[in-house]
Order: sequence, then C-alpha cells, then structure tokens
Amino acid sequence: YPGAEAWVPRRGGLPALRRAAQECEGCDLHAHATQAVVGAGPRDAALMLVGEQPGDQEDLAGEPFVGPAGKLLDRALDAAGLDPDLVFRTNAVKHFRWEGTRGKQRLHKGPSRLHVAACGPWLVAELRLVSPRGVVLLGSTAGQAVFGADFRVTRDRGRVLDWPEGWGGLAEPPAWALPTVHPSSVLRSRDRDTDFELLVSDLAVAADALA
Ligand code: URA
Ligand code: SF4
Repeated sequence: YPGAEAWVPRRGGLPALRRAAQECEGCDLHAHATQAVVGAGPRDAALMLVGEQPGDQEDLAGEPFVGPAGKLLDRALDAAGLDPDLVFRTNAVKHFRWEGTRGKQRLHKGPSRLHVAACGPWLVAELRLVSPRGVVLLGSTAGQAVFGADFRVTRDRGRVLDWPEGWGGLAEPPAWALPTVHPSSVLRSRDRDTDFELLVSDLAVAADALA
C-alpha cells in the first residue's frame, strides 16, 4: 500500500484532518467503508486512547467508540476515575474492514499489519495536534502499532512504558504509553466481571500516572 502520508494535511486542526481523511486511498480499506472515522475528544486532552478500527456502528456514525465496546469503555473509564468527556479516542486504522454481509449483519475483520502501517500517518497527525501526556493502547493492534510486532498485551498490560524514542517524529511526544486489553475482548469474555475489573485496574494506573 502507498500509505496515508500524501493525504495528511500540513496545516489545520481536527476538522481539517477529518475532511482530508475522507479522501484517503492509502490502502484498500476505503473502498467498502461508509466513511473514515478519525479521533474525537478535546484537543487539549491529557490522555489519548487508541483502539483498533471502527466497528459497524462507528462506520455508520463517523465517530469512534459509539457502539457496545465504546459503552463498556466509558463505564470502565468512569470506574477508574477518568472522566470519559476529557479523553481523546481514536483508532490505529481509520476505515472499517468490510468482509461481506450475512443477512442484515455486516461482517468485518481485524486490520492486517499492512493496514496499520499504511494508516499510521493519521495517528501521528492526531498525536501532533493533541499532544497528550499519556496514551492508552487498547488491545494488540494498537500495541503493535506503537511497539512493533514483538508487543504482547498479556505481558505488558497495566505497565507504564516509556514512549518509544523517536516514534512518529513528534516534537512533543507523549511521556508514556500504557497497554491494556481491547474493550471488545471483555464483551466476548466468559468471565466478563473479572475481565472488566482488570481493565478498570489498568485504566486506574493511567489515571495515577496523570495525577
Ligand atoms: N472498536 C474499536 O477498536 N474502535 C472503535 O471505535 C469501536 C470498536
Ligand atoms: Fe487511508 Fe487508513 Fe483508510 Fe487505509 S484505512 S484508506 S490508510 S484512512
């Protein structure tokens, strides 16, 4: 894939970024998605949350984390003492990956490593605009986007890790990144209550790091 770099505007804020992303053809995912879903939240947010890619509802609404995973995430943030309205939410990949339909249901699957690499310039642009102090990486796709293929959620979740030196070439890089599971994995879990509490305790570590 050519990657998103050529579509990322040199100037402007989040609205300019959102408009420009609608034109992106940095990989093949734009073809079947309704729209590009870029990040949302306060421009001065101290914390950025990075998920995987828009799901069905996000693809239709044009906003990240508005579906079931987002609702669970908001409850977890709240339980961890983080105000959901004060965080910036985005995804490693900005287009839904459509895989056909089954009846009324639209099927999708996770992005490949190549999609994540192609879409990286949008995440870098968001980090440049928001300059968060910390970043929470939700699940292995987001973790690998920042820490590479060796990243493992099970090993690194709940730990405050130094932001990788030079990643994204940011003038004001985040101080740290904290990996945890993706909220969808809690929705799929056979022991939802336990896994929800584990997500909350990881987010509480991020809350402490910001305090
Ligand atoms: N899952 C994600 O990773 N991101 C969203 O925006 C919604 C669901
Ligand atoms: Fe561009 Fe990212 Fe969409 Fe691919 S997924 S077309 S790189 S915005």
